[in-house]
Amino acid sequence: MKNRREFVQTALAGAAGIAFFRYAGISVAAPQGFDSRVEILLDESMGSISPNLYGHFTEHLGGTIYDGVWVGTKSKVPNIGGIRGELVDQMRKIKAPVVRYPGGCFADSYDWRDGIGPAEKRPRRTNFWIEAENDKSPASHKYEPNEFGTNEFAHFCKLIGAEPYLAANVRSLPASEFYRWVEYCNSPAGSTTLAEERAKSGSPQPYNVRYWGVGNESWGCGGNFTPQEYAAEFRRYSAWVPHYGQSLSLIASGPNSDDWNWTRGFFEEMIRKGPSQFGSIYGWALHHYAWNLSRGRTTDWEKGKGDAIQFDPVDWYEILREGERVEGLILGHWQVMGEFDREHRVKLVVDEWGPWYRPGSEATPGDILEQTPTLRDAVFSAMTLDIFNRHASKLHMANCAQLINCLNSLYLAHEDRFAVTPVGHVFEMYAGHQGAESLRTIFSAPSVEYDRDGKPAAFWGLNGSASLHGKDLLVTVVNPHTTRACETEVAIRGGSANSAMAVTLSHADLHARNTFDNRESVIPKRKASVVRNGIVVHTFPAASVTALSIRLT
Ligand code: AHR
Repeated sequence: MKNRREFVQTALAGAAGIAFFRYAGISVAAPQGFDSRVEILLDESMGSISPNLYGHFTEHLGGTIYDGVWVGTKSKVPNIGGIRGELVDQMRKIKAPVVRYPGGCFADSYDWRDGIGPAEKRPRRTNFWIEAENDKSPASHKYEPNEFGTNEFAHFCKLIGAEPYLAANVRSLPASEFYRWVEYCNSPAGSTTLAEERAKSGSPQPYNVRYWGVGNESWGCGGNFTPQEYAAEFRRYSAWVPHYGQSLSLIASGPNSDDWNWTRGFFEEMIRKGPSQFGSIYGWALHHYAWNLSRGRTTDWEKGKGDAIQFDPVDWYEILREGERVEGLILGHWQVMGEFDREHRVKLVVDEWGPWYRPGSEATPGDILEQTPTLRDAVFSAMTLDIFNRHASKLHMANCAQLINCLNSLYLAHEDRFAVTPVGHVFEMYAGHQGAESLRTIFSAPSVEYDRDGKPAAFWGLNGSASLHGKDLLVTVVNPHTTRACETEVAIRGGSANSAMAVTLSHADLHARNTFDNRESVIPKRKASVVRNGIVVHTFPAASVTALSIRLT
């Protein structure tokens, strides 16, 4: 991290009571008393932040769709056409830009035709995840009732003002079914038999779905392909897709974390047909989950996981370290892609990210892969969104896994109970970055030093991102230190602050979380910040996420 910022904190000059910070060879004196300094470089744009970096993901998995998004039209839970009303209200608040659906691994087992037409005639199928379900899981999680399908998903997206992103089945359906699904969604009113079927479901007008995933995790549950085989499949599935006047953005199934071979193999195979092939790929989908809390003891997927709510401070830093790897992954895959796609026509899409803990913290027993997010996950999520902002020029989209009742949920829901998790609050605090200009930032703070199984370990002391919208600057800052607040100067190079307001998410207890019975344990707090001579002076509490809204003069 530090080497990328071309920045060195040179000295803390005790005798003179002055702290010196160096940027590009210039030393700047910071007054005594400040632990840290943040500089925002107004003249150094890092690209426009696509609103879609704040995207979501919903899969027919555990309680995500049934009980989470969908309660059904006959439910006593307030709903809009079967969709949970409180979820709609919350998602409007965070300006949800895009939602990926129906999976995940489920996507490559799904026949979209099962989920259209009159609800009572839709078939019941075995869900992809059945083997992971347990005695407490309801039948709808094991045997897919298809009450929620393309029309209901399109309705959900319309209600929250988001774009749909559909993942097509490459493993178990032919390419023609992909084209037919596009036809069902996008062919003009009255034009095709499928458009008429859509109209019977209440939508004569097309859904105009722009984003389409060509498979999911095609290296694993999506077909067990080699990268070369998948490249050939991608070419075939994308060779002819009907457009109906809606430009389509096709997203190819990219690597699992640091699988460089998957990226290299795919791009190498694609270019065998010439560089023009890259014109058909909008995004290369990277997945990165932070899960290994074993501190290097194992790489076993089950044994390596930690608990979501019971952890010590070392586990706190450990999950952040695992999550922070996504920055190196963005840089690494970007470089490999560039070896073949020299003009970087293909951008990255991180369409699954988040921490993944072992079972045990489910808000609703029987909801597989459900975990209860704590303050730690809010800090993790903020750190990740800051990374995405800093790499805005390389990324088209990112989707947090998953929206509700699964993994890094923004929301937990069961029947008539609902809670916004600390992660959900972070998405609201960061919403102002969407569509703004990402600016280069320089963070200088003493690093966190701690004992990691008898060996000294360090993690950065303060980090974040900044973006500009007219005269409004949004600076988001993570203080990962579990006990130490950071008194900081936030200086703006090329401008000065007129006023500043801070919204902070923190808690004295690192394990703090929101539950159905205590929905407001971790909530953002607003407070005006001090501005002195155009510089914002702010103390970032220990274990916190802060959004500083600065009005420039
Ligand atoms: O998000 C849960 C699962 O994780 C998804 O279905 C799959 O794509 C990934 O392995």
